Amino acid sequence: MAQSGATAAEYAARAAYLRDQLRDLNYRYSVLSQPIVSDAEYDALFDELDAIEKAHPELITPDSPTQRVGSDLDARLPKIRHPLPMLSLSKAYSADDLHNWRDRVLRLLDSSAALRYVIEPKFDGLTVVLTYTDGLLTQGATRGDGFIGDDVTANVRTIRSIPLRVPAQPGSDVPAVPAHMVVRGEVVIHTTDFKAFQTRMQAEQQAARDQKLAEQIVAGTLPASSEGDASASPLKFINARNTASGALKQLDARVTAARPLTMYAFTIVEASDDAPIPRSQWETLQYLQALGFRVTDQVARFDNFEALIDHVLGFETRRHALDFEIDGIVIKIDDLPTQAALGVVGKNPRGAIAYKFPPEEVTTRLIGVTANVGRTGVLTPAANLEPVFVSGATIRNASLHNYDDITRKDIRNGDRVLIRRAGEVIPFVAGAVTGARTGAETPIVPPVQCPVCGSPVVRHEGEVFYFCSNVACPERVARNIEYFVSRGALDIEGIGEQGVRQLLSGGLIHDEADLFTLTAEQIGQLEGYGEKKIANLLASIQAAKDRPLERLVGALGIPGVGIGTAELLVNRFRSIDGLLNATAEDLDAVTGVGPRTAEAVAQWFAEPRSRALIEKLRAAGLRFESGDIAAPVSELFVGKTFVLTGTLPSLTRDQAAELIARNGGKVSGSVSKKTSYVLAGDSPGSKLDKAQALGVPVIDEAAFLALLQPATPDNPAADPT
Ligand code: IVH
Repeated sequence: MAQSGATAAEYAARAAYLRDQLRDLNYRYSVLSQPIVSDAEYDALFDELDAIEKAHPELITPDSPTQRVGSDLDARLPKIRHPLPMLSLSKAYSADDLHNWRDRVLRLLDSSAALRYVIEPKFDGLTVVLTYTDGLLTQGATRGDGFIGDDVTANVRTIRSIPLRVPAQPGSDVPAVPAHMVVRGEVVIHTTDFKAFQTRMQAEQQAARDQKLAEQIVAGTLPASSEGDASASPLKFINARNTASGALKQLDARVTAARPLTMYAFTIVEASDDAPIPRSQWETLQYLQALGFRVTDQVARFDNFEALIDHVLGFETRRHALDFEIDGIVIKIDDLPTQAALGVVGKNPRGAIAYKFPPEEVTTRLIGVTANVGRTGVLTPAANLEPVFVSGATIRNASLHNYDDITRKDIRNGDRVLIRRAGEVIPFVAGAVTGARTGAETPIVPPVQCPVCGSPVVRHEGEVFYFCSNVACPERVARNIEYFVSRGALDIEGIGEQGVRQLLSGGLIHDEADLFTLTAEQIGQLEGYGEKKIANLLASIQAAKDRPLERLVGALGIPGVGIGTAELLVNRFRSIDGLLNATAEDLDAVTGVGPRTAEAVAQWFAEPRSRALIEKLRAAGLRFESGDIAAPVSELFVGKTFVLTGTLPSLTRDQAAELIARNGGKVSGSVSKKTSYVLAGDSPGSKLDKAQALGVPVIDEAAFLALLQPATPDNPAADPT
């Protein structure tokens, strides 16, 4: 950002630097089709230059990127001239910005007449401009530089949501259409379509690579390394927007047709006056819909500007419930003559503004990859990044899923990578910006030794994950103990991750069972443990001894055995000794337990380390026999599916899941039309949005507990139908 207090020479130098950068980025994006930064990063540089030039107009040069509407013209395609300049929207980043916009509008209109506003999603796609002549689609163009666009008529004709004729379905109640009409909309790829397309493309690319390799082996022309693999084109199919843009600019319309493009219409740019067109934005949307265009239903009309602001700010948490990507909300003055009267400043109309969400995609450098050791020994690659700001937070690490995924995406150490962080989801590396490679990048290889204990790394047949082979690996042990004390397991309060690590490093515990013989004096050696905290922890440890057997079995960290499976096992085998003596076959015979889990359970109980742990726990006096807790089963929730999201005020997730299962219901991880209830607590995730979008009932803990009460006239909620 431009530093306040900088000298004129510093501003001039910064502006020159920004112009160079933007020109280079623009060339890579538009001409080479090899963007090396995210749109948000380009915008940030552009906005900085714009701000410097506004404050120091003498620094503006005629060729400054700010002096034209951003161009995405493609030299290979024929050109058309737009009937009117295709403008873009000025941006707002805060409620203050929106208030300032509204105040300026009111000042300019010099009237106290109340204004009405329409809000629409700001589609993160690309503009298309469609011309209809006598009701027939005669031309389709991109925005280009705002004046001249690429002619993509044959390509837009392949998009099914673009009517080839309007009205698409004539009828007595369908409005008349002007002989000449130009409609503007945005081409996007729906998120679900994009995921399916990506999967298909990855499979095809892999097959093509395999075939090439096979041919090279046969011909004896196998290169020494896979450097310069032509099939890996930069940012290809990493995000829906770039994929849509690439698809629209194909020279062969059959390629466009094979990509799942959709268009949402929102503006009538121009129309002949032989048929009336709406005079408000709200009616325009209805009119376009009546003619057969796809129009989003995520729109709203407001008289009250404060209510509008609430809605706009609140939309950010709901954006992921939509099936298309948006990068903000557009606010438009509903009355079109008023919009027109407000005119244009530069390339932006004054009568509308875009409220932009913080970017969810940025690029940064991948410094290296660390293999994290999990509770079960699984090695998960984690990206160490040059710190970068995304979705409102600075991140230094991101997920890389697994090593196969790294290979598939051809991500290398030192690469510039695209990071995505959508909603509450942990940021992940979406792909490498291969166009920015310098040649110094190095391959990422799975470790052959555990990075913590040095034991050999193994990979089981047919599995994607690598494992540390040492069941006594200190990291595995620590993670297991952390899990053992966690809320969903034995729920030992007042210890947590840090406490476990301190106890281990101080040699006070070596396994889960040692927790039960800790003394006040020993706990007192830990940092931050005063008398009260020690007493609470000891009480909590004591209470954990008496947890029901299924909680203990679920806490042991047996691969694949959470509280649900633990309950099934305990119901059948009734005691730890019952489980110790069960064979894989016996275990497999339990309804709800699959052969893999059965195998994993048998293997776990056969490990000497597990056996020793069990005996220590027995000696410590934990409950080893099943009580009657799991027994009472009602059919209250038979046929009902629940989805849990957020933190409930008193129940843990596992407890809620247990209550549901015990009453015959099912818990599912994702919301669909078939979901009976979404049980939502604090900080719910996108599941809540999805439930609302699908009309699935959302209940809180109190309403959930009420469902469990016997139905009485006072408690009609108890009937879960
Ligand atoms: S109205 C004056 N409405 O966002 C611009 N634009 O700079 C008239 N966009 O590339 C456009 N969603 O194509 C409008 N609901 C929406 C939009 C929208 C996305 C695009 C537009 C342009 C950019 C604005």
